[in-house]
Amino acid sequence: MLILPVNYLIFKLENRFNRVMLIIRSILSTIEFLILFCFYCLEAFILMFFSHRKNIAGKIVLVTGSANGIGREISINLARLGSILILWDIDEEGNSETAELAKANGALAVYTYKCDLRKREEIYTVAEQVKSEVGDVEILINNAGVLKGKGFLDLPDSDMDETLDVNTKAHFWTCKAFLPAMIARNEGHLVSTASISALAGTNKLTDACASKAAAFGFLESLAFEMRAAGKKGIKTTIICPSYVNTELVRGVQTSRPLLLPILDVVYVGKKIVDGILKEKLYVLLPPYVGLIVLKIFFPKKVVFLLIEYLGIFNNLDDFRGEVRRGQPQRTK
Ligand SMILES: NC(=O)c1ccc[n+]([C@@H]2O[C@H](COP(=O)([O-])OP(=O)(O)OC[C@H]3O[C@@H](n4cnc5c(N)ncnc54)[C@H](O)[C@@H]3O)[C@@H](O)[C@H]2O)c1
Repeated sequence: MLILPVNYLIFKLENRFNRVMLIIRSILSTIEFLILFCFYCLEAFILMFFSHRKNIAGKIVLVTGSANGIGREISINLARLGSILILWDIDEEGNSETAELAKANGALAVYTYKCDLRKREEIYTVAEQVKSEVGDVEILINNAGVLKGKGFLDLPDSDMDETLDVNTKAHFWTCKAFLPAMIARNEGHLVSTASISALAGTNKLTDACASKAAAFGFLESLAFEMRAAGKKGIKTTIICPSYVNTELVRGVQTSRPLLLPILDVVYVGKKIVDGILKEKLYVLLPPYVGLIVLKIFFPKKVVFLLIEYLGIFNNLDDFRGEVRRGQPQRTK
């Protein structure tokens, strides 16, 4: 008869002990977190002055959207470091020009491929071609992008599809094609040219902002997935530039050039490659534009005031959406 109350007492004591242990463990892990947090912040601060850049000479690097603008500048900067370049674009003429520039700037070898990034099967086919003709890609730079610059209800469904296919879904398919070999070696680097529009909505950029936010979320999640799987050798870098003076944004204006500048493409190309060499997780250009995320803590009227002050309602008033070589005719 006595056994029952004794069992109950033991059960109660065990429960209390487990709860106390849980609290102690939680306090200890929080202290550990705070110590490491301070240590890593200090380490990052010191490394700002003595930062190490990785050597990419002889590395196989794939750049999408390499025929023009930022992609061309990235390619030229990578060429200067002696990498083997694989250039993907729908614009064959522009891609050949980039290839010539890359060779003249010291690339170890340059391979150009026509690939329409709206088409998943084409991406997989060209990826297989790359693997057999060049080898496993060691750094994958998803840079190609389109910009329609139309109000939401003026955007044909086909434009929305294209924006999401090129700016976001192509990143899924290229990563699916090249990531397994990186995982096998526990070495590789995935880069995405997202945009500041991943962090803040913009008038007449519903499709672009949605596509960039998705590209940002995709690569950030993949970075955490690789860490969780113990694949510390797989690096990721998300690039978020403000406006850059390329054909993509021809006609775009800024009323606050200090806060929301239109950056020079040569400067942007250099900063992106520098961020890749330093294996940064995020590259914000200019760095302070990242402060825009603080908007979520502001009252509603302050958010609209800030967006209006930054000129985000009118940036695209004179946007011209140029028709580009190799691209389908844009509908205005
Ligand atoms: N220019 C800016 O202000 C700015 C700002 C932030 C982010 N970005 C991003 O930077 C990246 C590069 O932009 P950019 O300014 O150099 O533009 P760009 O138009 O000069 O270059 C984009 C390249 O992508 C290629 N491309 C487009 N559709 C394609 C398809 N279906 N298949 C294959 N290639 C295709 C084009 O041919 C072109 O060579 C884009 O992802 C863009 O969204 C640009």
